[in-house]
Amino acid sequence: MEFKTIIEPFKIKSVEPIKISTPSERKIYLENAKYNPFKLESDQVMIDFLTDSGTSAMSANQWAGIMIGDESYAGSKSWEHMHSTIKDLTGYHHILPTHQGRAAERILYSVLGGKGKVFISNTHFDTTRANIEYTGATAFDIPIPEATHPKDYHPFKGNMDIEKLEDLILKHRPENIGCVILTVTNNSGGGQPVSMKNAKDIHSVCKKYGVKFFLDCCRIAENAYFIKHREKEYEDKTYKEIAQEMFSLADGAVMSAKKDALVNMGGFLAIEDEKLSEKCSSLLIITEGFTTYGGLSGRDMEAIAIGLKEIFEPDYLLYRIKSTAYLGEHLDKMGIPLMLPIGGHAVYIDAKEMYPHIPVNQYPGQALVCELYLKGGVRAVEIGSVMFGKYDKAGKLIPAQMELVRLAIPRRVYTQSHIEYVIEVFSKLIENKEYVKGYEITYETEYLRHFTAEFRKL
Ligand code: F0G
Repeated sequence: MEFKTIIEPFKIKSVEPIKISTPSERKIYLENAKYNPFKLESDQVMIDFLTDSGTSAMSANQWAGIMIGDESYAGSKSWEHMHSTIKDLTGYHHILPTHQGRAAERILYSVLGGKGKVFISNTHFDTTRANIEYTGATAFDIPIPEATHPKDYHPFKGNMDIEKLEDLILKHRPENIGCVILTVTNNSGGGQPVSMKNAKDIHSVCKKYGVKFFLDCCRIAENAYFIKHREKEYEDKTYKEIAQEMFSLADGAVMSAKKDALVNMGGFLAIEDEKLSEKCSSLLIITEGFTTYGGLSGRDMEAIAIGLKEIFEPDYLLYRIKSTAYLGEHLDKMGIPLMLPIGGHAVYIDAKEMYPHIPVNQYPGQALVCELYLKGGVRAVEIGSVMFGKYDKAGKLIPAQMELVRLAIPRRVYTQSHIEYVIEVFSKLIENKEYVKGYEITYETEYLRHFTAEFRKL
């Protein structure tokens, strides 16, 4: 017997209260936060869709693992557990633990980067790009053309443009390419999956020119779900086998374990090449910690090892992908302009289309983020010109390719009624959308300005 209702495949053992606020309270909170939801206090937020990173609910098994975490400085049993789990999953020989994804990125890209070097990705995540540019290198995003058209359907909208990849390698010469980075799923490009065929093609091009190929694999289990259900030849493979095959195509991977590995903190860098791993290990020891803990406690490593197994459970992945799609499909039916199809960890709204009257230099995405908070206490993040905008020499904004707002769904945290509430908030939000105003930036930093920027309502 088949049921159409997919239930959360877990029971709740421990709860965290949500403080219910009123619109007038939220107006004051947001003014005090200078219209940047990153500056809100967490108890001022009712539904927190800011990020799916580090916000997962751990399982009873992971909490049990926390208790048996081995805190020895060297040779910790928990490291052994984390190490063997990652080795089994990725197949790479050298595994370096780090306190989160960007620490792994900083180590790898400062070894491979530097002035004159070029990095190529389907889309560099913001910390990835920042770590690369910080070394003086240049980062190019080459998603397939469909990726920048929110409404166009493509089963693997996260794919990299293979023709452009080859052109860029030839133009900048293979010896100047730091590496090619495939982000799975493509977070900044709308949480869209990457096909195995695309990973194979990238592998072939990189091999042809002797260029290194790395995965940014923080959502690789969710990506494996889409491959199994959208790429015919993989329908009989397990999710783990699919991930393993993808790892086998690359020379290594960086992972923020705060996403698919279901933990609140952690990451790693996995490398096949011994010489490169030696250079990275030296930096690891100087800046993160000894090679058997990186920046992590033993208990964190234990939880990562357990989480990396739980993410490939079919019931979990089915619930995860379907519950994200549930939110997206309801918003779509309501006429909210979305990035389609719905990706794995988040629903992305096309704010430029939602508020066509707000020009990009008045940040329509920021306007939507503020409206969501004011109306419903829902915290989301702008992924548009606040996050990726640059200025030309005359100080004029060079806008991002898209003005998106991301509703990132923490793993195993919210139930269906929370999602129903968010859908209702949107139904109220579209009633007065013509009257919503844009914002200007009154304070910003050089790198990653979206975290600390301050705004004024126009
Ligand atoms: N790569 C990708 C694709 C990411 O999404 C992130 C983080 C990182 C690298 C960096 O990892 O945070 O552990 O240092 N993304 C979070 C987000 C912050 O909200 O999407 P980190």
